Amino acid sequence: MSGSDLQLPQLRGLGKTSRTDAWWLQPGAILLGLTAFIVYTTWAALQGQNYFYDGGGAHYLSPFYSPLLFGQENEPRVFAATHPSWWPAWLPFSPAMLILIGPAGMRFTCYYYRGAYYKAFWGDPPACAVGEPGFRGRRYRGERKFPLVMQNAHRYFFYPAAIFVLILSYDAFKAMWFTRADASGSEFGIGVGSLVLAANAILLGGYTFGCHCARHLVGGGRDTLSDAPVRRSCYTCVSWLNRKHMAWAWVSLIWVALTDVYVRLLCAGVITDFRII
Ligand code: FES
Repeated sequence: MSGSDLQLPQLRGLGKTSRTDAWWLQPGAILLGLTAFIVYTTWAALQGQNYFYDGGGAHYLSPFYSPLLFGQENEPRVFAATHPSWWPAWLPFSPAMLILIGPAGMRFTCYYYRGAYYKAFWGDPPACAVGEPGFRGRRYRGERKFPLVMQNAHRYFFYPAAIFVLILSYDAFKAMWFTRADASGSEFGIGVGSLVLAANAILLGGYTFGCHCARHLVGGGRDTLSDAPVRRSCYTCVSWLNRKHMAWAWVSLIWVALTDVYVRLLCAGVITDFRII
């Protein structure tokens, strides 16, 4: 019998498989985790309040609202207005609406997340060697046709995402400067919020600069790196981050939401920031 005649048993239909392990655990956890994040982020972005804490000398801005393009007078806004002049009067405005598209685009088109949410949300397939919906007779078109061909925009989302990391690092730096008790100026200090914002910038940096596009950017255009020591060092660094890209993706996702929660609870007076230095 030739190799092409060999028939392996295939169980078809959604969720059908010969696997005996708990294959559903990972896609199930991803489904719950991403759903919770999307619901919370949408809710927080639509609030339009409790995103900037200005108390006890500290100044903490939620990463969901940074950079703060429009805001109130006492807030670190970029433009001297509460909202853009072109914003429709009938539509409630929140500053987060103008900026979340960048980070959201980066995550949505990320190579890791694509593999994860295709399985978790679309069951296409739910896991390796597990039946998917409409399996029989359907042609797999991959990401070469509309609409999934749009995922190729990922490389362009890398640039704004890298700028966001710089902005959030600056926010973390500013969170280490406290207004003096006599309001005579600023002084260096560390509060719990300073550490929360600093950790957020580091984790998002680890996720962003471990992107496959960053790896291609620093090393993809050359056949050899041994004669370009600076580039080789950058490539080694990015490759190190890239090896744990999934872990960076999840930890940074969870932490950015927790950072918003922390700032929001401070603003609402539910918790108090502890000044360490
Ligand atoms: S591959 Fe995940 S951010 Fe680029």
